[in-house]
Order: sequence, then C-alpha cells, then structure tokens
Amino acid sequence: MDGPLGLRKVGSYASVADAGDELDLSRLLEKPPPKLSIERQRSFEERSLSELSISVRAFDAAAAYDHGMFSPGMRSSGFDTPASSARNSFEPHPMVAEAWEALRRSLVYLRGQPVGTIAAYDHASEEILNYDQVFVRDFVPSALAFLMNGEPEIVKNFLLKTLHLQGWEKKVDRFKLGEGVMPASFKVLHDPIRKTDTLIADFGASAIGRVAPVDSGFWWIILLRAYTKSTGDLSLAETPECQKGMRLILALCLSEGFDTFPTLLCADGCSMIDRRMGIYGYPIEIQALFFMALRCALSMLKHDAEGKEFVERIVKRLHALSYHMRSYFWLDFQQLNDIYRWKTEEYSHTAVNKFNVIPDSIPDWVFDFMPTRGGYFIGNVSPARMDFRWFCLGNCVAILSSLATPEQAMAIMDLIEARWEEIVGEMPLKVAYPAIESHEWRIVTGCDPKNTRWSYHNGGSWPVLLWLLTAACIKTGRPQIARRAIELAESRLLKDGWPEYYDGKLGRYIGKQARKFQTWSIAGYLVAKMMLEDPSHLGMISLEEDKAMKPLIKRSTSWTC
Ligand code: GLC
Repeated sequence: MDGPLGLRKVGSYASVADAGDELDLSRLLEKPPPKLSIERQRSFEERSLSELSISVRAFDAAAAYDHGMFSPGMRSSGFDTPASSARNSFEPHPMVAEAWEALRRSLVYLRGQPVGTIAAYDHASEEILNYDQVFVRDFVPSALAFLMNGEPEIVKNFLLKTLHLQGWEKKVDRFKLGEGVMPASFKVLHDPIRKTDTLIADFGASAIGRVAPVDSGFWWIILLRAYTKSTGDLSLAETPECQKGMRLILALCLSEGFDTFPTLLCADGCSMIDRRMGIYGYPIEIQALFFMALRCALSMLKHDAEGKEFVERIVKRLHALSYHMRSYFWLDFQQLNDIYRWKTEEYSHTAVNKFNVIPDSIPDWVFDFMPTRGGYFIGNVSPARMDFRWFCLGNCVAILSSLATPEQAMAIMDLIEARWEEIVGEMPLKVAYPAIESHEWRIVTGCDPKNTRWSYHNGGSWPVLLWLLTAACIKTGRPQIARRAIELAESRLLKDGWPEYYDGKLGRYIGKQARKFQTWSIAGYLVAKMMLEDPSHLGMISLEEDKAMKPLIKRSTSWTC
C-alpha cells in the first residue's frame, strides 16, 4: 500500500489520511461549483492554451503525488542552478540567475556544512539588528527552493540542527519554557583564532516583546514532510530524534487546559507578524499552520507506543478544529449579512451569535471590501471579538493544508481577484488588509513607529508571500493569477535590491526600514517561479482534502456539504 507521503509504505507509517485523503481535484476541473460558473467560464476562455495545460498539469501532478504514483523520474529536482527551465518551454527570466546567486551568498555554514540562510545580506544597512541570523520561518522558502533544485542536504542539516537546539534548556529570565519550543532563529559564531564554530539560538528571549515563536515548531514539522516527500527519504522522519521532536511540539499545543475552543491561544507577535499588531488571541496564521502541522505530523508519526496516543489526539483535534474554523472564521457576503443582523445576549446552546459579537463592532470598510462572490478566513475570533482583517499567509496556508474546503479555496481566490488593487496593488502581497490608523493604531500597536499605516506589518506588502500565493493558485487551478503577480514583482524586485517589504496603499514604495537583499524575498520569488514551471513541486507543500473532515452542517450559502 502506498503511504501518505505518496511513497511506498515502509515500516509503521500509517495515517488517517490514507483513508480520507482521496483526491478529488478532477471534480473541480470538470464541474465548477454552480455559483462560480459565469466568471470561471470567462477566465477559462481568456486563458491561453499553455496556461490551461499548466493548470491541468498541476492537478495531474498533485494527483500523482497524493495517489502514491510518485516516482523519482517525475521529480523535477536535480537540475542545475539556474537553468531550471531547460526542459520546459519557458525562457528563464534573467532575474532567476541573479536570485540564485544572491540566495547562495546568504548561506550560513557550521563546521563547513551549510545549515541555513541568513535573514538579510544587506551590507549597505548600518543596522544589522537580528537580520544576521537564520530564522526558522525565513528559511522555509529557501529550503523549498533547494529541495526543488535537488539540493536536499542543507534542508536535512537545518532540520537536524534546529532539532538539536530544541533540546536546549530554554529560559526567559527565571522562567523555563516548554521543552518542545523551537527557536525563532539561530546564529553561528566563528572564532577564527580557535577555529571553532558555536551556535547561539533565540527562543524569544531576545525578540522584541519577548514572545516565543509559536510558528517555528509548525514550520519545522511542515518542512520535515516537504523534505520527506521531495526526497523519498523516509529515514530522517523515522529517526527516534525526529519522532521525539514532533511529539514535543505536539505536546505543547495538544495539552489540556481551560480551552473551550479547539484553536490555539496565542500572545501578540508570536509569528511572522512579530510585533504588537492586535493578533493576540486566535490568529488565523497560527491556526492555519497548526492545522497543517497536525496533518503533516499525522502522516509521519509512527504508531508505536509513544506515537499512538498523539495520533489519536491529532485526529480528534483536527476534527474539531476544521469544524470551528470553517464555521466561525469563514466570512462571505451571506455570512457578513447574517452577522450584521445578529441578536446579542443569547444564552444556552441554541445561541446563533455564539461569541456574543456586537454587530456595531463590524468595521465600515468590510462592507465595501466584501465582494458579492468570494470569501476568506478572518483574522481572529474570540469572545465578543471578530478581527475582520484579511491576512494573506493564513488564508494561503488554509488553501494548501485543505483547511479550506474546495469551495472556500475557490472563494478565497475569487476574493483576491475581485480585490486585486487592495491585496496585490503594485507589489505582491499585502501581509494584512487594511492598515490600522490614528487612534486605533495607538491603542492596538502601542504607537509602534515601525508599524505606521500601510507600512511593515500594518498593511505593508511582502514579496515573500508570492510563493504562498503561487502555490495556492496552482492548487486551485488558477495559475494565471500567480503569473500576474509574478510579473509585477519582476518589474521591481531586482532593480530595488530585493527589499523585505514595500509601503503604501498600493505597495509602491520601498519600505521605510526595509532591509535589502532580504533572503526570503529572493527565495520566495524562486519558489514561485519553479512551481509555475513544474507544478508537481506543489506536492511537497500541499495536502489534499480529507473527506473525513467535511463539515456536517450547512451554515452559509457559499459552501456545500
Ligand atoms: C521581521 C519579520 C519576521 C522575520 C524577521 C527576519 O522581524 O517580522 O517575520 O522572521 O524579520 O526576516
């Protein structure tokens, strides 16, 4: 039997996904949901034949991966930098070669071995801050680029080094952190005299606001699966060390407490948005990564004495989490209209307005932002609070992990198309929309001068998000959207020196304090290009729908059961 990673099943690999991970993308191609048909047909006709064949290839390739038809020959890795286009009809863009060179310059070595990439290689900048470190989240697009290019060694080294760091005793002042916490970043100190290399790691103690990175552990699990899926090398994930590393991360987020929701309660600044931005509570970015990491772990955990209990807990949590997210975080025109008319002060389990959200708290902008067709997962849901902001990373990961149903995934893409100016503008892609201004900015960010309106995390545009958008586009069969975004990036990124982020409502200006030669801007571009060229790469970062998690009730008109 074929394993969940699309590989021959070896040893004790097994997964719930085996039964439910049935790929049904062909259904999407043949029969678009009725309410989407008019525009879908139009854009279908507008697409060139080559585009169409790419999207069909994307489906075929993803299907092959998930049906275990993977074979080393299908893997497009192994070609040389940067001529990855040789086998395709694409002309390599001149920027691709420059990007590879810049990516290689960012490599960090430990005792002669590459173990990661530095966050930014910006010699012009006087302030290095902590951009000379290898950040776990920043390394993900670098890792994918190397995997797609047939260079898995650095990814393996990185996974093992960070796993080793997880084993450290972690303290903030006198307080000991959970065993499973993964570092936000690490650094290699070279001593040229003694000829020694020393690792130092940050688990949040040196970060602004002293917040532990909740996303690091999730990205680590997701990357372990990407490595395994891309190389076919099951031996790394099967080692007792990796199995333990996964269990420790899972123990942190599956522990019992006072929770009444299956979502994960977080402090502000615990993820990509690592400064106070009003994302405390149950931020979509973390919930989507949590969901994806749970599904990846499920496919890699051994069903042995120690693993079995975690497998059972994961299955239960996934069930509750998908229900909660699809029901309460999902917003479309119909749902917005329903919330607008909600009654408050309802008690008992018959309450419709479960979190007692006061309709007056719905911000004005969302009524204009919401297209007639389309939808998205909102930023946060907790008692009497819905954060209606759009967050790019969480929504893209929701598509890739299949937290979004196929209908919801299509609706998210519809929203991106309908609100192109707001979400993409002149430089892909807004990390969050809209910006917080004036009094609200003072209260929510604590007057953060780096997060002024339309800058940095507060409505700034981050080129790194291009790879996530591209992956989501390929998965939903809409590569033309990614191509449009990539063209925008190509018109500026190299010329501007690969900035970390852009500012302004349209993302037209290089960010006020943006680093240049920001590695994840470079790697994000490369990954986007490689995925478009060879959509079979999608398999390493995407999970197909698990039918067992289909919603049981129909709550909104926009998705079917
Ligand atoms: C900024 C970003 C964070 C990133 C780091 C290094 O702090 O907010 O997400 O990991 O820079 O690039």
